[in-house]
Amino acid sequence: MADTNVTISKGLEGIYIADTKLCKIDGTNGKLWYRGYPIEALADSSNYEEVAFLLLHGHLPTKSEYEIFVKKLVDEREVPDAIEEIVAEFSGRTHPNDILRTCVSVLSSYDTDMEDKSVEANEERAIKLIAKMPTIVAMIGRYRQGKPVIRPLAKLSHTANFLYMLTGREPDKEAAKLIDLMFILHAEHGSNASTFSTLVTGSTLADVYASVVAGISTLRGPLHGGADEAALKMMRAIGEPDNTEKYIEDALAGKQRIMGFGHRVYKAYDPRAKIVYNYLKIFMKKTTDPSVEKLLEIAIRAEKLMEEKLSKTKGIWPNIDFFSGPLYTGIDVPSDLFTPVFASARVVGWCAHLFEYWQNNRLFRPLDNYTGELDVKYVPIDRR
Ligand code: ACO
Repeated sequence: MADTNVTISKGLEGIYIADTKLCKIDGTNGKLWYRGYPIEALADSSNYEEVAFLLLHGHLPTKSEYEIFVKKLVDEREVPDAIEEIVAEFSGRTHPNDILRTCVSVLSSYDTDMEDKSVEANEERAIKLIAKMPTIVAMIGRYRQGKPVIRPLAKLSHTANFLYMLTGREPDKEAAKLIDLMFILHAEHGSNASTFSTLVTGSTLADVYASVVAGISTLRGPLHGGADEAALKMMRAIGEPDNTEKYIEDALAGKQRIMGFGHRVYKAYDPRAKIVYNYLKIFMKKTTDPSVEKLLEIAIRAEKLMEEKLSKTKGIWPNIDFFSGPLYTGIDVPSDLFTPVFASARVVGWCAHLFEYWQNNRLFRPLDNYTGELDVKYVPIDRR
C-alpha cells in the first residue's frame, strides 16, 4: 500500500542537493554568476581557458598560472589512435554525442593509474578531458563530412583550435570570438540534469571518466542539451522567415513545445540567451550567407512572437539553446555536433562540481513511493 504521508518532488523541483561556490543562478531576475563573476563580464572580457581555470580553482589565474594551465591543455589535445578507430567505425551511423560518450569511456583505459584518486590526479584527468573532447568532436565532424582528420594546432587557443580542426581553416577574429563565447556560456550552470547525473555517478565514488560519461549521456535529450539541435531543426522546417509566425502559432495551438524556450529555473530571460541574442544581431549585419541570414531572421521573428504569446504571460523565455543553432551554422558547426560541442564546454562544470562534491561526499539515494501490490502469491510458470 502506498505511503500517504509522502510528498513527491517530481523532477526534484525545488530540492537543494548541496552547497556550492561554483555558480549562482537568479532565475527570477535572469542573472548568472560563475564563482561570483557576472556572466556578462566573463563573456565580454575573459576566454574559455581562463573561465575553466576559474571554475576548477576558484580564482582567476595569475599570468603564470594561466600560462601553465594553457600549456597543459595544449599538451593534452592529441587523442590515442584507438579513438580515431572508434570514430571511423561509427561516425556514419551513430549520433556524434553517442560516439563522444564511447570515446570518453575508452579514455579511461589510457589512464596509467586509475587507483590514484588524489585531488591532483583527478585534476589531471579533468584537464585531459577538457583538452581531448574538442579534438574528438572535431574528428567526428571530419569523418561525417568524409574529410581527413586535422591534428591540433598548438598556437591556437582552445576554442579556435577546435574550429580549425573541424573546418580546416583558422577562424577569423569574429568566428574565434563567437565559438569562445559559446564555450564560456556553456561551461557551467548549477545542478542541471547532466551535472546532477555526473554527481550521482561520482557519489558512488566511481571515477571521473565514468561520471563524465553519465553527464554526456544525460545532456543528449531534447529537453536538455539536445534542445539547440531540435530548435535549429524547427527553424529549418519553417524554411522562409515569412512562415515563422504561422508555424509557431500552429505549433502552440497543437500544444507542441518550442525547443529552446522555457527553463526549470529561469522564469525570466536566460542571461546567456540575451548575450547570444545580441551577438546574433551583430552577426546578422555581417553574414553574407543567405541561408544563415534566413535562419537568423527566423530566430528573431520567432523570439518576438513567443514573447507576445508565452514569455510575458507564462514566463517561458528563450534559453541559451534557441539562438545557438543559427550562430553555429554561421561558423560551420553542423547541427548534429551541437550537443557534443556543448558537452566539450560543460565538461569543466561537471568536473568542478564533482571535485567540490567529493570534498564532502554522500551517496545519492533518494526514495520512491511504492504504489503496487504486496504479498502477491507466486504462481509457477506452467500454471500462469
Ligand atoms: N514551449 C511551449 N510550452 C512550454 C515550453 C516550451 N518550450 N516549455 C514549457 N512549456 C509549458 C508547458 O507546456 C506547461 O504548460 P501547462 O502548464 O499549460 O501544462 C508549462 O509551460 C510548464 O512546463 P513544465 O514542463 O512543467 O516546465 P519545466 O520547468 O519542467 O520545463 C523545460 C523546463 C523541460 C526546459 C521546458 O521548458 C521545455 O521542455 N523546454 C523545451 C526544451 C528546451 O529548450 N530545453 C533546454 C533547456 S536549457 C538547457 O538544458 C541547456
